[in-house]
Parts: sequence; C-alpha cells; structure tokens
Amino acid sequence: MHLYRQIFENNRKWVASKIAQDADFFEKLAADQRPEFLYIGCSDSRVPANEIMGLEPGEVFVHRNIANLVVNTDLNVQSVINYAVVHLQVSYIIICGHYGCGGVKAAMLPKDLGLLNPWLRNIRDVYRLHQNELDAIAGEQQRYDRLVELNVLEQCINVVKVAAVQQRYYEEQHPTVHGWVYDLHNGLLKDLNLDMEAEISKIRKIYDLRSV
Ligand code: CO
Repeated sequence: MHLYRQIFENNRKWVASKIAQDADFFEKLAADQRPEFLYIGCSDSRVPANEIMGLEPGEVFVHRNIANLVVNTDLNVQSVINYAVVHLQVSYIIICGHYGCGGVKAAMLPKDLGLLNPWLRNIRDVYRLHQNELDAIAGEQQRYDRLVELNVLEQCINVVKVAAVQQRYYEEQHPTVHGWVYDLHNGLLKDLNLDMEAEISKIRKIYDLRSV
C-alpha cells in the first residue's frame, strides 16, 4: 500500500489500541491538557519528542524547529513559551538538541545557504560566543558535537530571558530550564546538567535577570 494511504490505516489501528487500553482515552484528552513539560527540539524526523521521552499524548507541549533555536524575535517560539508558562503552567522547560544535527553542521560551514542564512546565523553566533573553546578542539567531529551542546546551552539562556519565565520563576521558583542532547546512534537522552544559576550569574549584569 502507498505510504500516504497507509497512514490512515495506521491511525485507525492506533485509535483502536488506545481505546482497548482505556475506553475514555480520547474523551479525557479532549477535555483538557495539563502537560508538565515544554519540549523545544529539532524538526529532525529522527527525534520524535513524545517517543524518546516515553510520554503519552497530553503529557508534553512541543515546539520544534531547525536546530532547536529560541530566537528572541521569533513570535512563534515566544508564543509557545508564553502559552506553556502562563496558561499551561508547565513545571519544566526542556531544550533538546541532538548529535548529528544538520542545522548545526550547516552553520559550521561558511557557505551561502539562501533563505536558511538568517536562521543559521543564530548558530553561527553561538560559535562566535564560544570560538575560543571550539577552535581549541582538534577533531572536527568533537567540535561539531560540542557546538551541538553549546547551542543547547545558549538556547536555555534565551529561554531564561523570556519575561514570562522570569515572572513565574520569581513567584513560584518554576519552571526550571534543562538542556538535553539526544544521540541518534543509540537513542539515549543525555542531560547536560546545566547549572543555570551559574550561567545566569555570569550574565546577570548585562540582562538584569532573576535566578532560574
Ligand atoms: Co537537527
């Protein structure tokens, strides 16, 4: 069967399996959503948010774009964060990068990529912020992996800067912000265990940030 038509067949089987486990599954989901997590990850087809976290529909609010960027002027991601923090009251915000990210790889090459240039420039800016550390890494693969991690760190900092995150953290000490990297080769999630307090204290005098 053609893959396109197969999808509707898959969907009917999925509905049947969910209802077999819980007859009210969809009715309950339709009533409300109370996800604990906001997940911001890469659009890469190999990194499916719910699946790698082992979470069901309703358990994670998801935003994905090329190279999991939180751009300060991107109304899309800023709206997602605002809604998740103010209305859904999520407890955790996750930035999840992944090794082997095509967006990060493309940004490492000083090449004209047309419409993608302004987007990738955000990653090139991460490279520039951490140029000393990155250029000191001898192996190209190691440098690439490290840029993936540093990109996650910088996006976590961008999340912390969002006014709604600042406000709610000040009032409730939540949500906390976490950086992860997913490894395409073994399917494992790595918590970078970022010390956001320490990161923020380095830049507080520039941005007037509260602790997260
Ligand atoms: Co990617």
